[in-house]
Amino acid sequence: MRILVFFFFTVLFAVVLSVKLLADALENSGNHARNNSDIKLLSEKIENLTLQVNKLQDSASKPFSKVKKLSYLYKKRILVTGGAGFVGSHLVDRLMSEGHEVTIVDNFFTGSKKNIEHWIGHENFELIRHDIINPLYVEVDQIYHLASPASPPHYMFNPVKTIKTNTIGTINLLGLARRVGARILVASTSEVYGDPLVHPQDEDYWGHVNPIGPRSCYDEGKRVAEALSYAYAKQENVEVRVARIFNTYGPRMHINDGRVVSNFIQQALQNNSITIYGSGKQTRSFQYVSDLVDGLILLMNSNYSAPINLGNPDEYTIEEFASVIKEIIGGVSPIVKQNGVQDDPQRRKPSIRRAKLYLGWSPKVPLAVGLKKTIKYFEKELMKENAKDKPL
Ligand SMILES: NC(=O)c1ccc[n+]([C@@H]2O[C@H](COP(=O)([O-])OP(=O)(O)OC[C@H]3O[C@@H](n4cnc5c(N)ncnc54)[C@H](O)[C@@H]3O)[C@@H](O)[C@H]2O)c1
Repeated sequence: MRILVFFFFTVLFAVVLSVKLLADALENSGNHARNNSDIKLLSEKIENLTLQVNKLQDSASKPFSKVKKLSYLYKKRILVTGGAGFVGSHLVDRLMSEGHEVTIVDNFFTGSKKNIEHWIGHENFELIRHDIINPLYVEVDQIYHLASPASPPHYMFNPVKTIKTNTIGTINLLGLARRVGARILVASTSEVYGDPLVHPQDEDYWGHVNPIGPRSCYDEGKRVAEALSYAYAKQENVEVRVARIFNTYGPRMHINDGRVVSNFIQQALQNNSITIYGSGKQTRSFQYVSDLVDGLILLMNSNYSAPINLGNPDEYTIEEFASVIKEIIGGVSPIVKQNGVQDDPQRRKPSIRRAKLYLGWSPKVPLAVGLKKTIKYFEKELMKENAKDKPL
């Protein structure tokens, strides 16, 4: 990398020097009574070199990842709400690399600019700092509506705001979709099934949600978001897609989001106790983020409008999952148990029959592969945290 940087600056220096020498030569040309053709030649060379300098400056300031060139027939204007968050930023990466024009809207409550900074300045990318509980006016063809805190500590931090985001915010986005004729995909959740009495959970199951419990701001917020989606579809002919997303993990997830994946990884990496809340017999299924992104894009572009589960049906007890993490990371962390938390779902496993049938989708990334990538990310993040200046 250092050699590349050195090489780049050497070339840049040489080009700038040549421009300067040629410009001087031009200035002095009067003294030496050069003929017109010499001057023309020198001007052309200067123009050429100036172009090269500009090109080098551009490529040095923004080394964007490659994006496809799409003709206007295929290029879509796509809005991603919550695009600076964990899932949103991966979706944005994919849509950008496919060559679409992507606008993201985020209030940075749980999202971060660093998740999408690598696109800032790209001609196909736009970032709007905006809270979706206020109306939004943009012209787009598709809307991926992901804005909402997703982890329990985040959505319980300000439950009223969580409800507003999922109700008023969703009304605003559905209204926008209606005004501009855009198709909208609403990110719902497996939490609409609550603590399920049916296993595995298929989309026909209506759920078992405590409407006044600590998780209800999120669970009921998402259930209203689904109800709103189908009300707009019926009454206003808005084209809606609803993804019921199950537990998803991967790089860029919040290191302190209090969820099982991030808790266990960071505890194991720091040789702290791995904490299981409750018996450890409760189950979860874990989907790698690239699988989810595949599913979201397939769903958006499909003709299927009923809700669809997107999740990995491989089911682990929390105890098993703690052992998997410990095995991959190594270390000496003991696995300890603490009291369970209220309304914690006891079993979670999606039926993905619909996704297979209507989208041809099923998850591809094995747990060990996805976890290794996630652990690598967490290691880097922890190193950065530790390197930060500590308060005096
Ligand atoms: N990650 C999962 O396991 C999972 C599971 C089920 C459902 N989901 C859903 O997927 C979506 C994305 O989840 P995530 O894990 O990326 O969460 P995240 O917290 O990383 O991302 C959510 C983004 O929405 C933004 N946001 C929140 N409230 C907003 C508001 N009022 N206005 C504008 N922006 C706002 C946040 O700043 C953040 O960038 C959410 O809707 C979530 O409910 C995620």
